[in-house]
Amino acid sequence: MCPPAHFKVTYSINPWMDPAKPVDVPLAVAQWEDLRDRYRALGHTVEVLDPRPGLPDMVFAANGATVVDGRVLGARFAYPERELEAAAHLDWFRAHGYPDVHEPVHVNEGEGDFAVTASYVLAGRGFRASPLSHGEAQEVFGRPVIGLDLVNPRFYHLDTALAVLDDNADDVMYYPAAFSAGSQDVLRRLFPDALIADEADAVAFGLNSVSDGRHVVLPQGAVGLFGPLRERGFVPVAIDLSELLKGGGSVKCCTLELR
Ligand code: ARG
Repeated sequence: MCPPAHFKVTYSINPWMDPAKPVDVPLAVAQWEDLRDRYRALGHTVEVLDPRPGLPDMVFAANGATVVDGRVLGARFAYPERELEAAAHLDWFRAHGYPDVHEPVHVNEGEGDFAVTASYVLAGRGFRASPLSHGEAQEVFGRPVIGLDLVNPRFYHLDTALAVLDDNADDVMYYPAAFSAGSQDVLRRLFPDALIADEADAVAFGLNSVSDGRHVVLPQGAVGLFGPLRERGFVPVAIDLSELLKGGGSVKCCTLELR
């Protein structure tokens, strides 16, 4: 995770970002600390990446890399505003002794567009990641990569439209309308028992959640998901990240998983 010390909305690269709306940085930091402390209270280790001035979106750490079985595929950002974040993440992994760190050739924004289930790496495309990054990820991770076409600009990254509920299983929740008709068919075929989210919960960033297989940490506004998650044996953990929503991100965007 990377604290929002330099968080701002000074440019707009997704429909949620409005530079005219002021951001309350102390509140953003307090909300972020609450998320970090919840992870720790759930027994998870949280590593903290130093924020860099001039990189206001760096708080969205999920975009910095993808890590599977200890192998790291770095990011290459679609917009120049975020370009320099990639090196900060690569430096962190190298300094922390990850032996297998790949600098990507093709554009991918880390876990923004890559999601890992037991059998697959699901990979979004359409707004950010290059379709060519899918083959690159398959080569690095040695797992089958399933390309999914995103069609609604509000759900510009895969992690705004789909969440993995248990990465020891193929258990996901998603918002179908964010995907092309063909990709919806693929999702139904691979995940016939998936939890289907409605528009209200998707717009509340309910799919931008992080699960440890039992606890699902998600934005508090996604109230429609709490009941269905409980029915499936999960424990929803609601978090208020209202300030970070102004950048077009929530729980998952702030969290890069070190698998
Ligand atoms: N403002 C950031 C961007 O548009 C938000 C990134 C959100 N991250 C995510 N994993 N969806 O790039």
